[in-house]
Amino acid sequence: MANRLLVGIDIGTQGTKALVIDEHGNAVAAGHCSYDFFVPQVGWAEQDPEQWWNAVINSLKQIWNQGINPEQIKGIGVSGQMHSLVLLDEDKQELGNSILWNDVRTQEECIEIEQIIGKEKSKSITRNAILPGFTAPKIQWIKKNEPKRYNKICHVMLPKDYIVYKLSGIFSTDVSDASGTSLFDVEKRKWSKEIIEALDIPIEWLPEVHESNTVVGGVVKQAANITGLIEGTPVTAGAGDNAAAALGNGIYEEGSGVISVGTSGTVFAPLKKLPPLKEDQALHTLHLFCHCLPNTWHAMGVTLSAGMSLNWFKSTFSEDTYDELLEDIHKIEAGSEGLIFLPYLNGERTPHNDPHARGVFFGMNYNHTRDHFTRAVIEGVSYSLKDCYELIKQCNVTIDTLYVTGGASKNLNWRQILADILGQKVHAFKEREGPAFGAALLAGLGVGIWDSPEDFPNFFDKGEETKENINNVKLYTEGYQIYKELYTKLKDTFIKSTS
Ligand code: XUL
Repeated sequence: MANRLLVGIDIGTQGTKALVIDEHGNAVAAGHCSYDFFVPQVGWAEQDPEQWWNAVINSLKQIWNQGINPEQIKGIGVSGQMHSLVLLDEDKQELGNSILWNDVRTQEECIEIEQIIGKEKSKSITRNAILPGFTAPKIQWIKKNEPKRYNKICHVMLPKDYIVYKLSGIFSTDVSDASGTSLFDVEKRKWSKEIIEALDIPIEWLPEVHESNTVVGGVVKQAANITGLIEGTPVTAGAGDNAAAALGNGIYEEGSGVISVGTSGTVFAPLKKLPPLKEDQALHTLHLFCHCLPNTWHAMGVTLSAGMSLNWFKSTFSEDTYDELLEDIHKIEAGSEGLIFLPYLNGERTPHNDPHARGVFFGMNYNHTRDHFTRAVIEGVSYSLKDCYELIKQCNVTIDTLYVTGGASKNLNWRQILADILGQKVHAFKEREGPAFGAALLAGLGVGIWDSPEDFPNFFDKGEETKENINNVKLYTEGYQIYKELYTKLKDTFIKSTS
C-alpha cells in the first residue's frame, strides 16, 4: 500500500508553513510563504486574512512541485496564531484586516469587560485574566470604534478556523484556540453563554467548538480546484499554534514542557487538571487553556516579541542570515559584558501585561560589538522566557524534560543560552519542529491512522540534548536580577514616554 501522507498547515505571523509527513513521522515535503504585517499605529498589529489563504495555496503548490501526489493525502490539520480576530459578513466576505494576538490597543476594553462580567466571575469561567491580546476585547473595540464594521459582522473566527472554512466550507473551532477568546468556559470545554450574553455578542456569530482532532468536514470542490487537494480530503478542527507545537514534541502529559520560539515565545506545560483558582496577582498573566487532546489542559506564559526581537534586530542592523548573525556569539562571554536587552518592542504580556513597555538596550560601553548586541538580544528574550517559566513553576508542576521548538531549536548557540539561563538542559528535535507537525499529527488522529499519541511513530526519544553550563548559570542568575530590576525601575517612565 502506498505510504499514507498527512498535511499540517500553520498560519504563523511571519508566514504560513505547509508540511507533509508520512505515517512514520518523517517530514517528506514542505512549502512556505510569507506575507505582510501591518502596524497602522504603534502597539497595533494587523494582517489580511486573504493573504493567509493565498499563502496556503502557494505553500501547497510548492509541495506538489516536490513530487507529492495529492491522492496520498489522507487528512489535513491546521494550526495558527491564537486570539487574532477574523470577521466575515453575511456574504462570507472578509471584513477588513485581522487584529492580531500581539496588538495591545484594547487595554480599556479589557477593564470594561471585567467590569461588566465581574473580575472574579470572568476569571472563574475563563480561568484567565482578560488580556489585550485575547479575542473578546478586540470585538468590543470594534463595537466602540468601528460601528459600521461591527454592524456587518456575521461570523467571528480565529486564523486557522478561517482556513478550515476556506478548505471545507465549515465554520468550526477547537477547544485550545477557543480558550484564548475570553468567551470560553475552559473547564467545561464549551462556549460560556453567560459571558457571551453579558457582552451582547450574538451566539450565532461563533463557530461550533470541537476537540482538536475531530474531522469537521472535507475539502470542497472550489478549494480543491484552487489548491490542488482532492475534493473530500478530511479536514480536522486543528489547534492553536502552541498546543499543536507541544503535541508535535510529544508534550501532552504533566511532567514535561516546551518552549516555543516563533514571533512570540511561549513556555508551555500540560496539566492533568486545572489548578485551583488563586487570587494571586503575580499569576495574573499566566494562561490556563485546554490542550489539544481530550481531558488535558495546559499552563502557558507568553512573551510577545521573541523571534520578532531577533527579526527586528536583523532587519534593522544586518544583512546576514540568521545563522551568520548568530555564528560567533558563543565567543562573547555570558552576560554580554553587561549589555542587557529588554525585548518589550510592542509591550509585554507575561508577566507584566504592560502595553506601555518598550525595548531597551542597557549598559553599552566602548567594547561592545555587534556580536555583543546580538547575544544580548538572545539573552533578553531568554530572560523573558525565564519569567514565564518561573510563573508556571508556581502552579506546582515539575518540568523534568524541557523541549525547545521553533527558531531557538535550530541554533545551538541559542539553545545553549536558553539552557544556561533556565539552569536546565533542553531537548530539541530536527523534524518535529513547529506547529505544522503537530497539526499533521492531529489530522492523523482524526482520520484514524493513530488511535492515540502512544501510537505515534518513534515518538519517545528525547531528541538532541543541550546541557546547561554551570559557570554560565551563575553569571545568568545575577544577570536575571538586573534584567528584572530594569523593568521595575522603568515601568513608570514607559508610561510617561508612550502617553
Ligand atoms: C499565545 C499567543 C501567541 C500566538 C502566536 O497566547 O498569543 O503565542 O499564538 O502565534
